[in-house]
Amino acid sequence: MKRPVAAVAGTGRGVPAHVMTNHDFAAIGIETSHDWIFERSGIVERHIAKNGETTCSMASEASRKAMDAAGVHPGEIDVIILATATPDRLLPSTAVDIQAELGATRAAAFDIGAACSGWLYAMTTAEGLIMSGTAETALVIGAEKMSAIVDWKDRSTCVLFGDGAGAVVLQRSKGGKGILSAYMRSDGKLADLLYRPEGGATTPMSADVLEKRSHLVRMAGREVFKHAVRSMSDAADRALDGARLTGTDIDLLIPHQANMRIIEATAKHSGIPMEKVFVNVDRYGNTSSASIPIALNEAIESGRVKDGSTVMMVAFGAGFTWASMVIRF
Ligand code: UT7
Repeated sequence: MKRPVAAVAGTGRGVPAHVMTNHDFAAIGIETSHDWIFERSGIVERHIAKNGETTCSMASEASRKAMDAAGVHPGEIDVIILATATPDRLLPSTAVDIQAELGATRAAAFDIGAACSGWLYAMTTAEGLIMSGTAETALVIGAEKMSAIVDWKDRSTCVLFGDGAGAVVLQRSKGGKGILSAYMRSDGKLADLLYRPEGGATTPMSADVLEKRSHLVRMAGREVFKHAVRSMSDAADRALDGARLTGTDIDLLIPHQANMRIIEATAKHSGIPMEKVFVNVDRYGNTSSASIPIALNEAIESGRVKDGSTVMMVAFGAGFTWASMVIRF
């Protein structure tokens, strides 16, 4: 096991106040039911951005709370890395908007796109910057306004996602705490199973694209499900191997919150009982890159992550991408 170089100094979350339950879909003409959504995914409700809430505003709220918890001022942040699939604008990055909003004048800021695995990719990148001496203090955010890119006419996807942001201040480690292992993988051959077909530089937004709704998320749910179970299990094995640990050493598993059945399969594969698994997919749905940092913040707030806890995080998402990390708190 390597000596940890980077450790979590504080966490925060910023989620919209508006809650949409499974029953609320009827009011917008979606033919679905609470039972279908809950049985297939474990989701009961999700937060949806309203009244001008943006990826930047949710991320900034999460970041302020994370900096408060860490006792760090905006001027001390060396780098801001935002994992998002829903930047507010295509140019420049949303990370620079967050930098301006926070007044983090010394920071370099950029976005990372790795879909639901994005925050673990961002954490691994930040760890590397701290390890190389390029940064001492990093703000690592996962923030998504998924409600802006899902197809509200496609019942097979729109019921699954939610909005929100989570943030972590990552600093040089002291006293053996911090990231014990990290793992990242991708398989671009499977990109078309979960994607937004058009509206990018190849086929810019046009009346035709809007008419076809091909700028919105499309997902082959059943295929994605199979790969998610396989890849998250693989990622969990790699993170444990990297940290020279087994499932029994893990105090809490925080998996990406996409689907209760995927979460249960991942935990079972690693020999981790469900009492040691953090679940909030029922209250948030799938918030993509924000799901793990929101869950981590809630786990710390509720006392399920304490001083000395060993926590494993595992994610899977569009790309496909998958990733994992073990952190000692
Ligand atoms: O963040 C990482 C990426 N995302 C994921 O990890 C999600 C992975 N996939 C899944 O979680 C599951 O595949 C879903 C929850 C999306 C769907 O569950 P499923 O058991 O794979 O259902 P299905 O897509 O095969 O659909 C079964 C049926 C279909 O009807 P027929 O053809 O069997 O008559 C659908 O038309 O359910 C129907 N259906 C719905 N019915 C009521 C699809 N969406 C809905 C809906 N309400 N919202």
